[in-house]
Amino acid sequence: MRLPSNSLKDLISFYHSELQFTYDYSEIEAIINLVLEHYLGFSKTDILKKKQENINQSDLLKLYFCCKDLKKNIPVQYILQEAWFYNLKFYVDKHVLIPRPETEELVDHILKENKNAKTYLDVGTGSGCIPVTIKKNNPSSSVYACDISTDALALAKKNAALNKTEISFFITDALNTEQLLQKTETNFDVIISNPPYIKYSEKELMTPSVLDNEPHLALFVEVDDTIIFYKKIIDLCKNKLNNNGKLYFELNPLTADNVKEYSLKSKLFKKVELLKDLSGKVRFLSAEKH
Ligand SMILES: C[S@@+](CC[C@H](N)C(=O)[O-])C[C@H]1O[C@@H](n2cnc3c(N)ncnc32)[C@H](O)[C@@H]1O
Repeated sequence: MRLPSNSLKDLISFYHSELQFTYDYSEIEAIINLVLEHYLGFSKTDILKKKQENINQSDLLKLYFCCKDLKKNIPVQYILQEAWFYNLKFYVDKHVLIPRPETEELVDHILKENKNAKTYLDVGTGSGCIPVTIKKNNPSSSVYACDISTDALALAKKNAALNKTEISFFITDALNTEQLLQKTETNFDVIISNPPYIKYSEKELMTPSVLDNEPHLALFVEVDDTIIFYKKIIDLCKNKLNNNGKLYFELNPLTADNVKEYSLKSKLFKKVELLKDLSGKVRFLSAEKH
């Protein structure tokens, strides 16, 4: 290991020099904060205060191997096997998508706009970040969540337990409406989904970090119609969303208008809105049923 000393200061310089061609400066800083919190329990203030202190050999080795993995473009959340979402910690591995800040924004809208909602369904739950956060913040509600992946569901259950929440998880294929209808014994006040929405032909446009590490089942739509998941979930709302209930989607900005158009054509909703994320991209749809 090419480190002049065991000091925190030299370790930080090492991370910057090793990762400079893989990440930009602010990303490296954010990564350093995460790994030092994870391996050494250091807060940002600790990092500032303890720059001259030495790190023991065993921790230094862990931090060194972590840096090697980061250089291979493995996302820091998979290396540490944890991700933060809405101030809650989630276990993550290669079976689930890493929860994104945009999804936190979506959950924030949902929590603010549905204080009295009693029943929620999340379709394509992955790590379970959406239902767990909703239940944590609205403990009296009943929250249901499904996925087609048994591995994802096992991990989502682990996250519900980690965050001390009770969620009704079930396995289903969201593209098979009959199956989804049979598996949900109740109707919902709020239905949510952040489904797969990328065409295989768009693969080349994606970063290696996402393409080589995140589950393709969570990213790609296998059929030509990339909004097929949205259409199926809108169709489901006819039977499963209560009157005055709300539907929320996270969207691909490229197909947002098509999803809105399909929602309007269904005539199920009295109000359909597209919302922008913090970076100004059209990212969410919210619709209110008649
Ligand atoms: C974009 S990820 C979203 C994960 C999580 N909700 C989030 O926002 O971080 C889409 C999820 O849909 C699941 N999925 C893919 N095809 C599915 C299908 N046919 N039926 C149900 N879930 C599916 C994937 O396993 C994945 O967990």
